[in-house]
Amino acid sequence: MTEQWKEAYPIETATEEKLSRRKLLQSCAVGCGLLAIGELTASWVSRSRVQAADKGTAVRLEKNVADIRMHEAVLFSYPDEHSPCIVVRIGEEGGAQDFVAYSQKCTHLGCPVVPEPEQNRLYCPCHKGSFELSTGKVLGGPPQHPLPRIGIRITADGYIEAGG
Ligand code: FES
Repeated sequence: MTEQWKEAYPIETATEEKLSRRKLLQSCAVGCGLLAIGELTASWVSRSRVQAADKGTAVRLEKNVADIRMHEAVLFSYPDEHSPCIVVRIGEEGGAQDFVAYSQKCTHLGCPVVPEPEQNRLYCPCHKGSFELSTGKVLGGPPQHPLPRIGIRITADGYIEAGG
């Protein structure tokens, strides 16, 4: 005896396409490949943008170095408004050697890093990546490349100029 729903909604089993194990594995492989390509592209775009930043015009931060406390971070954009950067005071004297500036975009997938100077690191909360504050090198997590560093200088009147 045929169930009623099968009579009401007959399924053409002969024309159904069954998902074989091979097709499933192929789909997974293609999906993983696309994810890998996406991650590599995001990383490459992030790095190439900051490499281009080295050729931009220097920006002058609004805060005087005398007003930036030890371990304080100041955000700025360089070389354009879509490229967030961060400068952190790591020394007492107030010379150029007492500040470090980096692109704020994590080299993994571009999330903004946040300073954790008491742990001497910049931390990316997206996937728990971390970078050494004083050098930008990778300390842990998925990032494979250091944070791009931005050159700075202190002007005669005590302001930070970044990039250029
Ligand atoms: S985006 Fe920073 S660790 Fe993934």
